[in-house]
Parts: sequence; structure tokens; C-alpha cells
Amino acid sequence: MTALCAAVYTGIDRPLQLETLELDEPGPGELAVRIEASGLCHSDLHVMLGEWSERPPMVLGHEGCGVVEAVGEDVHQFAPGDRVVLCWYAPCGECARCRAGRPWVCLNTRANSSLMPDGGTRLRRLNGEPVRSYLAVGSFGQRAVVPASGAVRVDGRLPAELGALIGCGVATGVGAVTNTAAVQQGQSVVVVGCGGVGLSVVMGAVLAGADPVIAVDISAPKLRLAGDVGATHMVRAGDSAGAEVAAILPHGSDHVFEAIGLRETIEWAISLLSPGGTATLVGMTPEGTKVSFDPLPFTSAGRSILGCTYGSCVPDRDFPRLAELVMQGKLPVARLIAERIGLEDVNRAFDQMRAGDGARRVLIH
Ligand SMILES: NC(=O)c1ccc[n+]([C@@H]2O[C@H](COP(=O)([O-])OP(=O)(O)OC[C@H]3O[C@@H](n4cnc5c(N)ncnc54)[C@H](O)[C@@H]3O)[C@@H](O)[C@H]2O)c1
Ligand SMILES: [Zn+2]
Ligand SMILES: [Zn+2]
Repeated sequence: MTALCAAVYTGIDRPLQLETLELDEPGPGELAVRIEASGLCHSDLHVMLGEWSERPPMVLGHEGCGVVEAVGEDVHQFAPGDRVVLCWYAPCGECARCRAGRPWVCLNTRANSSLMPDGGTRLRRLNGEPVRSYLAVGSFGQRAVVPASGAVRVDGRLPAELGALIGCGVATGVGAVTNTAAVQQGQSVVVVGCGGVGLSVVMGAVLAGADPVIAVDISAPKLRLAGDVGATHMVRAGDSAGAEVAAILPHGSDHVFEAIGLRETIEWAISLLSPGGTATLVGMTPEGTKVSFDPLPFTSAGRSILGCTYGSCVPDRDFPRLAELVMQGKLPVARLIAERIGLEDVNRAFDQMRAGDGARRVLIH
């Protein structure tokens, strides 16, 4: 048993509470990880705002990187000292979808309920009350016990803060382009929303050789960042945005990525498609949101809509590859970091995210 400090979700619209918690030793199939860095992702904010039903108390944070401190008795693929990027769906590795190479829709994972594979938790309050770890990661805690299937070893030279961003925003955004939508060289791409996820979509589109890569956001600083990471055109969201995109792409876009999760922007993104084009929905909506669109352009001219979960990533395959691209300078992920913060700054940082200020803030434990 070890003690740690963590930012705990205690209920809707309440600030995260800094608490001292107790953590179990890793059991069979588990790792104890000292979390070095955790990105703040809008999905954590969705939980805090009550947009998705999640049960408190829970340590938030699901974009984490750290160092293995101890391994459970039957874990041979990791050793203390390994740097690991954490994966937020800890696949079972055995179900039909895992065997078919689609672990992001694993049939058996309990991580989507923020539980370990045995249905339990490894954290508790000092009074004994069990505490969940968000998506079986809980990277707003200084330490975590995670399923070994939810960790991927990466090159120890990769800075932890960049490893953390690979764990959600970068894997999702780059994977949306290269895996989910499989964008081809020379295809046109529009990215609606340029936070940490949308800017990663821009980077993925540049990597895939897409042209043009049109970034859309309401925030001018976000658009400048999009240009810095390779967008060819920047369009301020608003009444004239559709005409501005049409001036660049008169027949519509081969690919559109929505990376916000709002009804209006999803409907607008879908309206930008060319015949045969594909809209990839990456932004997550509050539960129960309904969007509307005319289906005729889909059946009469081969348009498609795809849902992107975690960039359709196979973590063991994709995380080390992304780490390599980051270290080779081919993915300018460091440009996403607006600020490095401590645990005591976490609520202020989420207020800034709500206000649309900054791409990614990274908690350094
Ligand atoms: N599909 C997945 O697996 C997955 C993974 C991670 C995150 N997400 C989701 O992706 C979304 C984005 O996450 P993030 O961390 O990048 O969020 P973020 O808050 O950092 O970024 C959102 C961006 O949208 C912009 N924006 C807001 N309203 C806008 C509007 N009306 N028009 C144009 N731009 C607008 C903001 O200025 C900001 O740049 C969230 O919904 C998150 O939950 C999905
Ligand atoms: Zn996330
Ligand atoms: Zn599975």
C-alpha cells in the first residue's frame, strides 16, 4: 500500500478536490506506475460538467505517461524503470474484436466503466471508500495501478510530457487521419475545431500528405497554432466560414474532421463534403445530443460518416510509432503545450479550457 495525492472528481460542476489516497500493490496482470505527466483533455471536462454519467469519487486524467515502479507476479513484458504511455481502454486481447485488430471496441474491457478487468478499483480514501480511476488510468494521481494491457513501453528518451499527449489527443487526432479515415496523399482535409485533438488531426493530415489542409476555429490564437503545425489555410468560424471554404474547395472536401463535439459544428462539417467524401466525427457530444442531416447526398453520391474512437489505434503498434515520429521532429507535438502546471493549478486550467484558452495544459507531478 502506498499513499499519493490526486485530483478527485466528487460531483457535477464541483472543482476537483486534492486528496490523499491509498493505492494497492499491483496484482497479477497489473503494473504500478509513477505518473510523470498528464495532459488535460476536454473529455475530463465533459465528466466534470456532468455531460456524461460517471460515478464519483474518481481520479480524473486519462492522457498519462510515467515510469513502471513495480509489476504484478505474472507480468514479464515490463520491468521497473520502463517508460510507459497509458492507454485508456485496456483491451482484453482475447475477444473477437481484439483478435480482429480492433481493440478500441474490445467487448470485455471494463476500462470504459473506469474499473479494472476484475471489476474492482485499486484506490481508496483514507476512510476505506473505493475510488475509481478514470478509464482505468487516473493520471491526475501521482501514482496508479493499471492493467498491463493498458500500458505501452516507449523509448525512455521520449520526454514524459510528450508521451502523455500521445496517450489521448495525439493518438486520437493523428489516428483519425491515418487509421480511421485513411486519408491519402493529395486529398483535401478540413478540420473543424483546433484544440489539442484538432491540432493533432492537422498534424496527421500534413503527415499523410493531404492538400489543402484547412483549419477552422473560433479562436485566432488556435488558428495561428494550426498554421504553425502545417495547416495550409485558416478560416475563422462564423457566418462567412462556409463561403471561405467553398472558395478554396468549390466541390467540397474529400475529408472533414469534427473535433469539438457540438451539434452545430457537426452538422456544418457534414455539409462541407464533396461527392464521395468522408466526415469523421472525433469530438464527443454530451449524452443524448441529436444532429440532423439530409441523407440523400450520402446515398446518391457516396458520402460517408465515420465515428472515430481513439483514432482506431492499436496502442502496441501505434504508440511507439508516434513516439518515434515525435522524436524525429515529424510531429511537432511540443507546440501543443500552452503551459506546464502542478496539481494545485488543475481547476484553474480547466476554467481556461472552458474559455478556449490554450491547446493543451500538461500536469507535471
Ligand atoms: N473520439 C475520441 O476518441 C476522442 C478522444 C479525445 C477527445 N475527444 C473529444 O474531442 C473533442 C475535442 O477535445 P480537445 O481536448 O481538443 O478540446 P479543446 O477544448 O482543447 O478544443 C476545442 C476547440 O474547439 C474550438 N471551438 C469551440 N467552439 C467552436 C465553434 N463553435 N466553432 C469552431 N471552433 C470551436 C475551441 O476554440 C477549441 O480550440 C472533445 O469533445 C473531446 O471529448 C474525442
Ligand atoms: Zn482524451
Ligand atoms: Zn477484447
